[in-house]
Amino acid sequence: MILAAVNSQDLWYTTRGSGIMALLLLTASVVLGISQIGRVSGQSMPRFVVAGLHRNVSLLAVVFLGLHIATAVADPFAPITVADSFVPFVGTYRPIWLGLGAIATDLLIALVVTSLLRYRIGFRTWRATHWASYACWPIAVWHGLGTGSDSRVGWVQLIYVVCTVAVLVALGWRLTTRWGGTDPGQRTLAAFGAAAVTIAITAWAFQGPLRPGWAKRSGTPSGLLGGTTTTTTTSPSGG
Ligand code: HEM
Repeated sequence: MILAAVNSQDLWYTTRGSGIMALLLLTASVVLGISQIGRVSGQSMPRFVVAGLHRNVSLLAVVFLGLHIATAVADPFAPITVADSFVPFVGTYRPIWLGLGAIATDLLIALVVTSLLRYRIGFRTWRATHWASYACWPIAVWHGLGTGSDSRVGWVQLIYVVCTVAVLVALGWRLTTRWGGTDPGQRTLAAFGAAAVTIAITAWAFQGPLRPGWAKRSGTPSGLLGGTTTTTTTSPSGG
């Protein structure tokens, strides 16, 4: 109700800002989660502080994600429904790239819910579900690059690079210490997997959202391309 009273331009700015914030917090959560596994914390940073930070940062990511989804759905400019936000690839607005956002959201909800119920469902089930975080993060990055209006903006690209380096460093640290498991085959596979996903998304970005004409190629409904209202001249951009 409150969001309906806000103008479309403000909603669009909020969608973009909250999307970036959600990604930053998700990145911080993944890095903190990995360092918690390795018990990086020491005298200066006791383990319960890292664990508390990890939990609170994750919950804050969910808050910003809620705002991101609420404003995207409330914005009358783009035809995005509540169902599009949770059911992948059913929408009409940039369906593939928005669908990736829906998958990342579903995974994040599963991660948060199973973590809150950790003591009820048992450590093994919780741990198995938590592996999904390694899929949630790159899928969210892929969604942001594919759907976002700011993928060609320098400082936003810097954020994507910083987030990627942070996660890769944390993962690299985990794989090269005893916390990466004892099987060298599994470690090698995980390292190759991370490198392959990073290279694939980067190569795709250079062919896709970083090139002109992405707004059309990404599946923006034709009626929204090159519109005449204040909002349509600026939203969505991205080529
Ligand atoms: C974990 C889940 C998600 C994360 C981390 C995330 C993050 C992001 C990021 C970083 C952007 C780029 C913003 C920009 O370029 O300025 C973005 C764009 C967008 N996201 Fe998400 N998102 C998620 C899920 C969703 C879902 C479920 C929806 C469905 C409502 C959604 C709707 C959008 C829309 C419409 C845009 C384009 C906004 C624009 O025009 O720039 N996102 N998202």
